[in-house]
Amino acid sequence: MLIAQPAKLGPYTLKNRIVMAPMGTNFSSTDGISTDRDRRYYEERAIGGVAMIMTEAMPTSEGVRNHHNSMNVYHDRYIPGLGLLVESVQKHDCRIFGQLSHRGGLLRRSVLGMEPVGPSPWVNPGTGEPVRALKVDEIKDIQLKFAQAARRLKQAGYDGVEIHAANGYLFHEFFTERVNKRTDEYGGSVENRMRLLLETVARIQDLCGDFPVLARISVTEYCEGGYSTEEVIALAQALERAGVAALDLSGGSNESPELSRFCIQPPSMPRKCLEPYARPIKQAVNIPVMVAGRILTPLDAESILEAGSSDFISLGRALYADAHWCKKAFGEIKAPIRECISCNVCFERLTLEQDVCCVQNPAVGTEFESVELAEPQLFNKKLTKPKRVLVIGAGVAGAEAARVAAGLGHQVEIWESSDRLGGQIYLAVAAPDKEEVWPAWTYRWKELETLDVAIKRNVTVTEENLRAYAPDLVIVATGSRPRPSPVDLSGLDAGVQQLHAWDLLANPDLIARGAPFTIIGGGMVGIEVADLFATRGSAATIIEITGKVAPEMARNNRIDILLRLKQAGVRTLLNTSVQSARGRLLQLKTADGLAEIDAGAAVVTAIGPRAERSVVPVVERAGCEYVLVGDCNAPGDFMSAIRDGYFAAMSLRTRYR
Ligand SMILES: Cc1cc2nc3c(=O)[nH]c(=O)nc-3n(C[C@H](O)[C@H](O)[C@H](O)COP(=O)(O)OP(=O)(O)OC[C@H]3O[C@@H](n4cnc5c(N)ncnc54)[C@H](O)[C@@H]3O)c2cc1C
Ligand SMILES: Cc1cc2nc3c(=O)[nH]c(=O)nc-3n(C[C@H](O)[C@H](O)[C@H](O)COP(=O)(O)O)c2cc1C
Ligand code: SF4
Repeated sequence: MLIAQPAKLGPYTLKNRIVMAPMGTNFSSTDGISTDRDRRYYEERAIGGVAMIMTEAMPTSEGVRNHHNSMNVYHDRYIPGLGLLVESVQKHDCRIFGQLSHRGGLLRRSVLGMEPVGPSPWVNPGTGEPVRALKVDEIKDIQLKFAQAARRLKQAGYDGVEIHAANGYLFHEFFTERVNKRTDEYGGSVENRMRLLLETVARIQDLCGDFPVLARISVTEYCEGGYSTEEVIALAQALERAGVAALDLSGGSNESPELSRFCIQPPSMPRKCLEPYARPIKQAVNIPVMVAGRILTPLDAESILEAGSSDFISLGRALYADAHWCKKAFGEIKAPIRECISCNVCFERLTLEQDVCCVQNPAVGTEFESVELAEPQLFNKKLTKPKRVLVIGAGVAGAEAARVAAGLGHQVEIWESSDRLGGQIYLAVAAPDKEEVWPAWTYRWKELETLDVAIKRNVTVTEENLRAYAPDLVIVATGSRPRPSPVDLSGLDAGVQQLHAWDLLANPDLIARGAPFTIIGGGMVGIEVADLFATRGSAATIIEITGKVAPEMARNNRIDILLRLKQAGVRTLLNTSVQSARGRLLQLKTADGLAEIDAGAAVVTAIGPRAERSVVPVVERAGCEYVLVGDCNAPGDFMSAIRDGYFAAMSLRTRYR
């Protein structure tokens, strides 16, 4: 396996080829001091076997803070916390580099009142905020601040530093002619546009001496007027000449939701999407390169090294989803990898200034993250008094609860009322690009099989069979049911079908290919129905009562669907509600008054689910202790379902002491 082979990076020999990509977490204190939470999160990934960790983007001065709770390094007061973090990573034979960042024109007044600044006057397309052009003395000060921040990293014990020159931030803005309109020595020719970065490398080298410097660059901008392959190769070669130890390859710009998709890619982007751009850069330089971008499995990673497109693999979200990815890939931990499903909930959380969470890994950023707690089955605990745990419902929440409870050594059964397991997963994977969501179920299903958990299908839960099983704890995971139409549709012609989105996703042939139809409800499910039917030639009309469709979706994934719906001619009526139905017509209340539209072949209701708890009175009458998890507790998503299941099962550790 090439990914398991050691390789040189600057003065170091890394023990394998997997590097953790820099990813903001919002786990530090509100004034940016690295906390125990940071330390445990990074240490767990070091324990999990990565050869090197690049810690998240750290602002280099107080005026360029990027998130409310990001790790900071703009003062010596940050050195002690960072020092503890470094020790906890290095003791696992893992190198640690720190990424230094200046968001430039993407600084936000909405986040800590930061002033957007850049090479030239500009308007940030993401926020609409004006960007002020930097004066030369300010540029010199920024370079000094980077050097001082690098010095602090060195004093904290870091193995090296990276300059974040990718993703639309300051150094990227200076490099691209799209944004840089300067006429002084920092604008114009390609040499001038890379001057800011090269001078900063030199300042760090001057101040820090023997301390490896890396640069992260975007291999392409994915937009009209963006820099060319020749220019980015020229930049890579100039960085090599400047003594940079390795290049870290990313893509795109975070300046707008459209372009941000190319930095933190949704599932519509192919796996290994940056590899084709990395290859010519790798061929043009003699220093190592590393590349990120939807590399999810060991096979994805191995194939990039085999093709000679990169020297190292930079894994981002894959390591949120499974801290122990490397050891599992190398066979040192014998359990399946929890694959990232590219849902981008982690990034959405950061964008909303919350702490990062992972849908697949309920323990990320908590003190619960360890091999022992993630994979309790490997520790073979012989409990003196195993408890009898009954899980009702075999959706994702029930499966996670059963996986963990069985792994802890308890006696577990799952009772499922239907003959198919997985609950809503079949609906969730129905729309285009949603097949990547499968591992939310398949990972857990494989584990249930390995653990030999008894699963009974077609079960009707009764007081009698509950008493006969005599569970110590019942975990109710019965999910949700679709909410019926809020509007009386009885006036519709018999020729206009009345359907629910769930039925339609389960059986798309209910509507003839190409037939137009109407969807009541523009949440995620409504727009996924429209997206699926666009591939079948049907342009739907979506009626949404609020002013926004699918606000619950992560923006990098949402924008993808919205662009497709626009291209497919899907009509979205916002701030509109259906009042009544007559013949083939729907009467609407819009912001401008009343209106009527032709319903088309069907009216499809997609207004969200409601908790399914009909089993609860039965469980109560049988006198069982119980807990509700997943959608039956509160209709939500995979994250709430998996979290609930995981923590409900974990509660067994203390519940019956
Ligand atoms: C179209 C669609 C797309 C979605 N896409 C996403 C997405 O991209 N990301 C995301 O995070 N979330 C998504 N969701 C939401 C997500 O699927 C649900 O939140 C999640 O599956 C809920 O899991 P659960 O285990 O709580 O419930 P369910 O999946 O509903 O499972 C409940 C199980 O309990 C069984 N059951 C019910 N009553 C009984 C009973 N009395 N006895 C025994 N068994 C019973 C059911 O048959 C079912 O198997 C989507 C949902 C839909 C409908
Ligand atoms: C929540 C989140 C935060 C991120 N923060 C940073 C960051 O601080 N610096 C950076 O260069 N890239 C950042 N990235 C981008 C990742 O480093 C990586 O390039 C990207 O996620 C694609 O790789 P992946 O598919 O392996 O996740 C972030 C990504 C995510 C999901
Ligand atoms: S939240 Fe989603 S995209 Fe982010 S790491 Fe977890 S599974 Fe992957």
